[in-house]
Amino acid sequence: MAEPDAGGRRHAVIRCGPEHLEAIRGIYNHEIQHTTALYEYEPRSAETMAAWWAAKQALGLPVLGIEAGSGGLAGFATWGPFRAFPAYQHSVEHSVYVDSRFRGHGMGRTLLAALVEEATARNLHMMVGVIDATNAASIGLHRQRGFTHCGTVREAGFKFGRWLDVEFWQLLLRTATDIKVEQPNPPGAVQASDSRAG
Ligand SMILES: CC(C)(COP(=O)(O)OP(=O)(O)OC[C@H]1O[C@@H](n2cnc3c(N)ncnc32)[C@H](O)[C@@H]1OP(=O)(O)O)[C@@H](O)C(=O)NCCC(=O)NCCS
Repeated sequence: MAEPDAGGRRHAVIRCGPEHLEAIRGIYNHEIQHTTALYEYEPRSAETMAAWWAAKQALGLPVLGIEAGSGGLAGFATWGPFRAFPAYQHSVEHSVYVDSRFRGHGMGRTLLAALVEEATARNLHMMVGVIDATNAASIGLHRQRGFTHCGTVREAGFKFGRWLDVEFWQLLLRTATDIKVEQPNPPGAVQASDSRAG
């Protein structure tokens, strides 16, 4: 494992490219099939992921990653629009995923910190994680990074034969006060959203 950098991070964060798409698909599909981290039932196809990637690229949305020692991808983090209406344009809904083989080594923490830095650099105002209420790891991660619980929607989802409560965890960014101008929403923003627990 690498030595910590100046920010105390042990893992180098990269910008993912199309070569990482299959690894991202594998991470998503493991969670879809075995957990309630995503509120999806069917594994994503390569075509679905190609469309997901194209939407991210079209809107300039970040997909950050950490490579595994073997050259594969150990984890990734990204965001999409929170809701597809113009007044939400300064808010994003993000997600962080670490391959189950690499958890507990600070990768989730590093990816979320990098995503917050990226959002701050882009002058965004608010990040929200929409997290299944039983997802202790993600809730712990967000709490640790300074996110606050701002609401629970009860029985919002249904998966594995039971109702699912979903929690909203938000972070207001220090850039918030710089935003004074109302601008139209970028076209097609809704296609880049992710149907995870959020
Ligand atoms: C949530 C997730 C990204 C955490 O990744 P990770 O690399 O294992 O997390 P880290 O090792 O960086 O841990 C960072 C902090 O998160 C919290 N955390 C991590 N795993 C935890 C667990 N199982 N239970 C409670 N808190 C946990 C802790 O506060 C931890 O800090 P600590 O090590 O100082 O105690 C990972 O579990 C994951 O990918 N889960 C499935 C996908 C998912 O749920 N994504 C979130 C959707 S928004």
